[in-house]
This record gives sequence, structure tokens and C-alpha cells, in this order.
Amino acid sequence: MGVPDNTSVEQFPYCDGGMNGSMLRTNEYLFDMRYFWYNYYMMQPDNSQARTAELVEGGSWFNYFQKKSNPFWDRMMYTARMKRFASYYDGFHERYLRPDDGPLIELGVGFGATAIPLIDRGFSVIGIDNEPRFFPFCVHNSQFSEHPERLTLVLKDLYDPNWHRDFLKRSIQAVVSYGVLEHFERNHLINTLIPQQFAIAKTIIAMIPVLTENTLQTFKATSCPENNVDENGIYRNFWTTGFWRETIFKGHEILGELDVKGSGGSKGGPWDMTIFTVQ
Ligand SMILES: C[S@@+](CC[C@H](N)C(=O)[O-])C[C@H]1O[C@@H](n2cnc3c(N)ncnc32)[C@H](O)[C@@H]1O
Repeated sequence: MGVPDNTSVEQFPYCDGGMNGSMLRTNEYLFDMRYFWYNYYMMQPDNSQARTAELVEGGSWFNYFQKKSNPFWDRMMYTARMKRFASYYDGFHERYLRPDDGPLIELGVGFGATAIPLIDRGFSVIGIDNEPRFFPFCVHNSQFSEHPERLTLVLKDLYDPNWHRDFLKRSIQAVVSYGVLEHFERNHLINTLIPQQFAIAKTIIAMIPVLTENTLQTFKATSCPENNVDENGIYRNFWTTGFWRETIFKGHEILGELDVKGSGGSKGGPWDMTIFTVQ
């Protein structure tokens, strides 16, 4: 699959660096090193520096998504994606957020599967990711929306201790994430990634697969729900909705929780998720 022809570098300035061969070679090299560092940090008493969110077969989420699904949409795929979003979350965001109250930041925007339904609902979204090869796809996919100009893409590494600084005092309404937080290990979430989000905005909305029998069976994680690494090399934590509420988001108010049971298909079976609104 090639890069979409109709995406220019001007549309998104960061895509250039990600396309050249040296970046790809660097990623392959990092792939091996990631496993090394993962094992190294997991053995340490304080493993808060482990780059667990980047553990994935092939060394990159971009390669993984290209293999698992088609990240380059046509109109039918766009329509199917919008329907899927609506079936899970319709009305949920509007209960807490208003399009006129400032932009949203989406952590780990990927190819736009959740940013694009949000721009369709009137929100402005700043999608951040550390994988620049997603961005031309994201720009292409957003062209099916009537308001592609509401999506901005920014290259940021969530392990950079200062990634959030550019967004301070920018009237960001909320930081949203979908299938991202569970890839970070516990100490990093509690001590770093959640405080960084609250430094930017007063509200977090996060969709997370949660520990239930369905989820553990589908992800084959029964014997190791925390610090799980699946057959694709992906690191995830499976915690109950209560654990997220009481331990990970401790000290914050949970404004809303929506449990979505038996979603999936792409994982080969049902799994359960919770979407939290936290302040
Ligand atoms: C499971 S995917 C979720 C994609 C998207 N939210 C969706 O709903 O389709 C995780 C995303 O987080 C991004 N990511 C992983 N590590 C990151 C990091 N250190 N900084 C920024 N983004 C990261 C990946 O590139 C990928 O796009």
C-alpha cells in the first residue's frame, strides 16, 4: 500500500521525515532495542521509564495496523467507521463537552478512527502521535468528513517529559484517548501521564478495555492481566473498571462511566471496555 497521492507535505509538514528509508531502518533497530529495554525495566523496582506503549510486533503501530486493517479509507469504510463510533459512544461526548468550548487533544490519533467522528460532531481535534507515517493516512481519511479543517496533527512523543508543554494555557477543553492508556505501565500513568493531561485540560475522556472474563479470554491474558504482552508483542494492562476509578484516577472525580460490553470482532472474540470522563 502506498502513501495517498493527494496528500501533500504542506498539508501536514511532519510527514516528510517519516517517509525516508533511514527512519524506517532506525525503527527496525529500535524494535530490537525496545524488547531489550522492556525486559530490563520490567525487572527494576521502579520501571516508570519503560516505553511499553511502543511494544508491538514489527516495531511500529503503523506496520501493525497496515497488516491488521486498511488504514487508507474509501467512502464505505468511512461510513462503517462512523457507524461503529456511533454504536459505541453516541451522545457520550456531548454530555460533557461542547464544540465551542475549545479544542480536544487526542493521544495516539493513529489513522483517525476516533478523531474523525469527533470532527464530524463539531469538535476541533488536535491529534498527537509519535509515528509520522500515520499522518498522511489521517489527512486522507479526514477528507470524507465535511470539516477536515477541524483536525490538526502534531508529532509528539508521550514519553517526552515535556510533550504537554506546548498545550498549556491553550484553552484545551479535554484530552481524549481510545485504546491508548492501557499500554502504559502503572507508575508512569499515575505519576506522569495522567498529571500531564490534567495540566493541559480539566477533563479527560478515555476509552479502555477492562478486565472481565470476556476480555481476558479474547486477549488470552488470563494468566497475566497486568503487564501482559500478547502474541503480537503488544503490552497492555487489564484492570477492572473499579481499579481504574479507585487507583489509576485516584484523587479525581469520575463524572461519567459508560460500559460497552462484547465489542470487538477485530480481536476474534468479545471484549469489554469502559469509557471514563474524569476531572
Ligand atoms: C492502539 S493505537 C490507538 C489508535 C487510535 N486511538 C484508534 O482509536 O484507532 C495506539 C496509538 O498510540 C500511538 N503511540 C504509541 N506510543 C506513543 C508515544 N510514545 N507517543 C505518542 N503516540 C504513541 C501509536 O502510534 C498508535 O497510533
